[in-house]
Amino acid sequence: MPPSEPIPDAAPTQASPGPGRVRIYEVGPRDGLQNEAAFVPTDAKREYVRRLLAAGLREIEATSFVSPRAIPQLADADALLPALARGDGVRYPVLVPNIRGFERAVAAGADALAVFTAATDAFTEHNIGMTVDASLAAFAPVLVAASERGWWRRGYVSTAFGCPYTGRVDPVRAVDVALRLLDLGVDEVCFGDTIGVAVPAQVAVLTGRAVAAGIPVERIAFHFHDTRGTALANVAAGLDAGITCFDSSTGGTGGCPYAPGAAGNLATEDLVYLLDGMGFAHGVSLAGVLDAARYISGILGRPLATKVGQAGGWDPDTGAPTARA
Ligand code: COA
Ligand code: ZN
Repeated sequence: MPPSEPIPDAAPTQASPGPGRVRIYEVGPRDGLQNEAAFVPTDAKREYVRRLLAAGLREIEATSFVSPRAIPQLADADALLPALARGDGVRYPVLVPNIRGFERAVAAGADALAVFTAATDAFTEHNIGMTVDASLAAFAPVLVAASERGWWRRGYVSTAFGCPYTGRVDPVRAVDVALRLLDLGVDEVCFGDTIGVAVPAQVAVLTGRAVAAGIPVERIAFHFHDTRGTALANVAAGLDAGITCFDSSTGGTGGCPYAPGAAGNLATEDLVYLLDGMGFAHGVSLAGVLDAARYISGILGRPLATKVGQAGGWDPDTGAPTARA
């Protein structure tokens, strides 16, 4: 594998100063690729990340230091992470389930991580073989060790709206797990709509409850799946509620292999189009994202099926589509 190279300059952004700044947290290389049947070669993952950087993305969840038996698609994490371009303002969080994974992440040069639990025991038992309580106990030493090294730390609350095994989830439960993650020292909590069942009113309710419980809105992120076509509407509800960080996957790939029916992260290209149109600044170029989306679709051997991937962007001065696939 070639040595890591300097990060490419970001392509010009389409965002204009507007209502505020939003962070786009890219999960394609991790959440997108973990659910693909094919193993994407390490060099192709590296090229995918290079194009994401070129598009202006600066927070890219790169891989997972989990059991390679559980997620064979990301078994090359130890080789991939050191091969990625580093630069000021670039963050590559990696998923870490236990101290074993933390030690691998240290050896690979990580400086940001995400731990992942859920609002329901049934989901964590399928996903990581433990209850929510047990998962939090397992993360505690990981988060202490990461804090001692000055790493950025995120905690996921999956199934925050609904669970594939037990149905609807009370927002009080999701907020309780988030509070416990914050007590363990995470910088940010991310509520995941793992099976894509949420609607905007629920996003408003969950955000309201989290803020009422004392969680600062800028420490809350949302991870929507577009399984039922509600992801962008949910983002709009989150923006209304003051949320400033949203996850998305370039090309709209991914899901979670332990969540039946969880196909389809919100596509980064769809998110960028929405944010551009609403005037939010984010630093990401739609053309650059579509370039990366086309690249990874080609590697996966299928057409780019996202809405904006198919239609392109739109130039309001001429009425013509832009950056079409
Ligand atoms: N990195 C590499 N290997 C690991 C590991 C890690 N972080 N943690 C555990 N392992 C290995 C163990 O060595 C053992 O290997 P062996 O079977 O060859 O002896 C095997 O994995 C099982 O280890 P164990 O400690 O018994 O854990 P488990 O079977 O209860 O699995 C997890 C627990 C969390 C490690 C596993 O379920 C996992 O990695 N899940 C990831 C799920 C995921 O990423 N989901 C996507 C997010 S939606
Ligand atoms: Zn996802």
